[in-house]
Amino acid sequence: MSDLSIVKQFSEYTFKYNMSLGRHGWLRLTPAYSVHLVEKVLNLYKNKDLVVFDPFSGTGTTGVVAAKNGYNAVLNEINPFLVWFAAQKAANYSDKDRDNIRRVFLEIIEHIDYYVSKENWIPNIFKIEKWWNTETLNILSAIRASIVDVIGEPKESNRFSLIWIAFCRVIIETSSVAFNHISMTLKSEPMQYKKEYITDILKKTMANIISSTDDTIKANVNIVNGDSRILNGISGIDVVITSPPYPNRISYIRELRPYMYWLKYIINSEDSSEIDWSCIGGTWGAATSKLMTWEPEASIVFAMLEDTVNEIAGTENKNSKLMSIYVYKYFYDMYMHIKNLYKTLNEKADVYYIVGNSTFFNVNVKSDLLYEKMFDMAGYSNISSEVIRKRNCNKKLYEYCIKASKNGGTTYKNKYVYAAPNSQTLLPFG
Ligand SMILES: C[S@@+](CC[C@H](N)C(=O)[O-])C[C@H]1O[C@@H](n2cnc3c(N)ncnc32)[C@H](O)[C@@H]1O
Repeated sequence: MSDLSIVKQFSEYTFKYNMSLGRHGWLRLTPAYSVHLVEKVLNLYKNKDLVVFDPFSGTGTTGVVAAKNGYNAVLNEINPFLVWFAAQKAANYSDKDRDNIRRVFLEIIEHIDYYVSKENWIPNIFKIEKWWNTETLNILSAIRASIVDVIGEPKESNRFSLIWIAFCRVIIETSSVAFNHISMTLKSEPMQYKKEYITDILKKTMANIISSTDDTIKANVNIVNGDSRILNGISGIDVVITSPPYPNRISYIRELRPYMYWLKYIINSEDSSEIDWSCIGGTWGAATSKLMTWEPEASIVFAMLEDTVNEIAGTENKNSKLMSIYVYKYFYDMYMHIKNLYKTLNEKADVYYIVGNSTFFNVNVKSDLLYEKMFDMAGYSNISSEVIRKRNCNKKLYEYCIKASKNGGTTYKNKYVYAAPNSQTLLPFG
C-alpha cells in the first residue's frame, strides 16, 4: 500500500525540481546538458544577429537558452518525440494561453472518475508490470483516456501540449524508475499509488509547468526533424553549440521509451529499434545485430581511428568485433555530420562540441583527439579542445569541449535570415 508521507515527499520533490530549473526541469534526459555551458559560450559573443545552431538538439536546451538571450536559433533532431517536446519548451505562452490550459486541465481532472471504471488503452511496453503496479497503471490509463477525450492525442493538438508534458512527469514519478545510474534502471518493485495521490502529483506538476512559462522567449526557434548526417536545407549558421551522442552506447530511445510509448511515438519494439538504428551511436534492440552486417558507403581512413578500432577488435572478448564496428560506425557517422555541417555555416563560423570519451575493454576511445582530427580533415581551422568535466562514474572518463572554426571564425554581422523547408516556427501555439 502507498504511504502518504512518501507521496508528500514525492510532490515536494516535483515542486522543487521544477521550481529550480524552470522549463529545463520539465523532463529529464540523461545525460543532462548544462544550461550554463551554453550561456558561457554565448557570452563570448555580443552580436545578437548571430544565428545559433544545435544539430543534436535533444530537449532543446541550446535553442531555449539562445532565444531567451535574444539569439535566433535553429535546432535539428532525429527523434520526433524530442522535436515535439522542444517545440513546447521553446514556445511563448500568454496569460490567456495559461488560463485556457488551466480550464481544459480542470475538465480533464473532472472526467478521470468516468474512465477509472473502464478498460483503457495501455502501452505495449515490455514487462509493463515491472514499471507500474496494476492499480497505478489503471489510474494512469484512465488519466490518459481523459486527456485524449478532452484535447486529443499528443500529435493532434499543440495548444494544450503542456498537459501531456505534465502527464509524462507523472508516469515517470509513479514508476519504478531509478535515476541513480547514467542510464535508466528499474527498482525491484513498483509502488502502489492511489488515485488521489496520483492526481495530486499531476495537479502540482501542471501548476508548476504552467507557472514556469511566464518568462519570455525573445527570439525565434526553428526546429527541424532531420538527420544531422545530411542537414539538407539548413544554412546561414554562425555559431554551433551542441552535445552529440557520445561513443558510449547510451540509447536515447531506451532512455525515453516510457514517454514515447505512452504518447504513441513508439507502438512496438520494432519501432524503437528502427528509430534507435537511425540515431548516431544507437545500438538498442535489433540495432545491435544490424551492426554486424553494416558496411560504410565510403571509408574514412585516419591512423588514430584505425588504431583504436583495431585495438578494440584485438581484445579478448566475445563482443570485441561488434564493439570495434560500433566505434568505427560512430566516427564514420560523425564525420559525415561534420563534413555536411560545413555547408550550413556562414562564411565564417565557430563550432563548440561537448563530447565524452569512452572505454571498450580497457581501450580508451579518445574522443577529443578523434574529433579534432575529423574537424581538421573536413577543412575547419583553429581547432582545440579542453576538458570541462570529469565524469564521476569512472576515473578515466571526461567531457571535453572541442572548438573549431570556419575560415578563422569571428563574431561578425550575419546577413542571412534562416528559413528551412518543413520547419516549425515556434510562435505561440502557431
Ligand atoms: C546528448 S543528446 C543532446 C542533449 C541536448 N543537448 C539536451 O540538452 O537535451 C544527443 C541527441 O542527438 C540525437 N541524435 C542522434 N542521432 C542523430 C542524428 N543522426 N541526427 C539528429 N539527431 C540525432 C539524439 O536523439 C539525442 O537527442
